[in-house]
Amino acid sequence: MTQTTYNFPKGFLWGGATAANQLEGAYLEDGKGMNLADVMPGGKVRLKVISEPGFDFKIDKEKYVYPNHDGIDFYHRYKEDIALFAEMGFKTYRMSIAWSRIFPNGDESEPNEKGLAFYDRVFDELKKYDIEPVVTISHYEIPLHLITEYGGWRNRKVIEFFEHYATTLFKHYKNKVKYWLTFNEINGATHMPILGLGFSPESEETKLQDSFQGLHHQFVASALAVKAGHEIIPESQIGCMLVYVPTYSYDSNPENVMHALQEERLFNNYCGDVQVRGEYPAFANRFFKENDITLDIKEGDLELLKEGTVDFISLSYYMSRTEKKNKTPEEIGQGNLIGGVKNPFLNASDWGWEIDPTGLRIGLNQLYDRYQKPLFIVENGLGAYDKVEEDGSINDDYRIDYLREHIQAMGEAIEDGVELMGYTPWGCIDLVSASTGEMSKRYGFIYVDKQDDGTGTLDRKKKKSFHWYKEVIETNGKKL
Ligand code: BG6
Repeated sequence: MTQTTYNFPKGFLWGGATAANQLEGAYLEDGKGMNLADVMPGGKVRLKVISEPGFDFKIDKEKYVYPNHDGIDFYHRYKEDIALFAEMGFKTYRMSIAWSRIFPNGDESEPNEKGLAFYDRVFDELKKYDIEPVVTISHYEIPLHLITEYGGWRNRKVIEFFEHYATTLFKHYKNKVKYWLTFNEINGATHMPILGLGFSPESEETKLQDSFQGLHHQFVASALAVKAGHEIIPESQIGCMLVYVPTYSYDSNPENVMHALQEERLFNNYCGDVQVRGEYPAFANRFFKENDITLDIKEGDLELLKEGTVDFISLSYYMSRTEKKNKTPEEIGQGNLIGGVKNPFLNASDWGWEIDPTGLRIGLNQLYDRYQKPLFIVENGLGAYDKVEEDGSINDDYRIDYLREHIQAMGEAIEDGVELMGYTPWGCIDLVSASTGEMSKRYGFIYVDKQDDGTGTLDRKKKKSFHWYKEVIETNGKKL
C-alpha cells in the first residue's frame, strides 16, 4: 500500500544543489587557476573529446564554445540567487568549492586569499537566511596543473595536495560549515576516469588498473580529510557521495540475475564499502584477480581507511539500470548513461535517462539495509527543455511531476524505516550541464536566460516549479 501524505522528519534539510564549475563563471578572476572544467567544450561531443587519450587539455575557441567559463555568473550574482533560494524556503544549499580558486595550481603551499574570501561572502550570505551549506570539496574540477604535471589521481602525490586543500578549508571555514562531502560521485570514476580522476587511460587494458589505483588514492585522501575535519571541526558531519544506480536483472534468468548482482556490487557498493565500512569488500579480490589489477597499497593505508570512515552517505539519483549478460548488438547502447539495456517498463527524459521513482525507494532501502547510516539525497532532477511563453511564464509541469514522484518515493522509503537527512534537487537554478555542456538541458526552479551558444541576458526568472517547491518546503512535504 502506498500513502498519500508523508511524514518527513522535523528539521528535514530541503534545498537545492549546484557545483562551482557549472555556475560560478569568472574562470580566471581573482587569481583562480585553470581546472578541468575550463577546457571542457560545450555540446554533446564534450565527454568524447575530453576522454580521447590524445586530448591536450588546451582551449580551442576556433573549434568549440566553453560554457563553463562564464557559467551563469554566480560569482557576481550570488546575492540575487541566494535571495531566491531563501524565498523558496531553502533550509540548505549544497554547493562546491573550486579547488583551483583556493590553490590555483593545486600544489602551492599558501592558499589564494581572494578565493577564500569569495566563499566567505557566499557563506555569510547564506547565514543571513539561515541556510545551512553542504560543501563538496571536489566536484569534477581538479586543477589542470595536477592533470598535466602529475597525471591526475594516478599519482599518489595528489593525496597530499588534496589533504592540504581540505585541511585549509576546514581551518578557514570551521565556524561556517558543518556538512562536508569529500568527492562528488566517487564511484563514477571508473566509468569516466577523466571526470573523477583527472586522466584518460591510454588503453582499455590500462583503464581498469589505473582507475582502481586512482580510486585507492582518493579513498586514502578522503579518509585523511574525514580525520582532519573531525579534529578541526568536532561537530562536523562528513559524508561520501555516490552516484547510486540500482541495477535490475532484465529477467529471472539466473545468469542475468548474477550478472546484474556483479554489476551492482562493483558500481554501487565498492566505494561505499570502503568509505563507510573502512575496508575493501570481499568480492573485490576475485574481480582484481580476474582483471589483472594489482593495487599498490602502502603501509598504513588500510588502517587509515578504517579511521576515516564517513558519518553519512550522500547520493545522486537519476536513473536505474537494467542488465543482461549477453547483449545483442542492437541492445548495446540502448540503456542508460552507465550502461545496461532498455527497460521496457520505463520512459526516458529527452536525453535518454530512464525515469524511475520507485528505483529511488529501492536504492534508499538497499543503502540503508547495507550500512545503517543516515542518507542524504544531494542530487536528483529532470534535465528538460523549457519554453518561455510570450507572457514570460515557464510552465514546467513535467518537472513538477518528476519531482513529486521522487519525493513520494522518499516518503515511502522513510516509512520503510530509512533514515533520510535531506533532499537537494540538482541544478536548483539552471546551470551548465556536466555531461553535455549545454544550457538547454535545464534542471532549475529558476530559469536563467543563457543559451547554448552563450547568448542571453543572464536574467533570472521563476518557473512554475519555483512556487510549487516553495509550498513543498513550507508544508514539510505534506503538500505535493
Ligand atoms: C551528476 C553530477 O552526475 O549529474 C552533476 O554530479 C551533473 O555535476 C548532474 O550536472 C546532471 O548531469 P548533467 O550531465 O545532466 O548535467
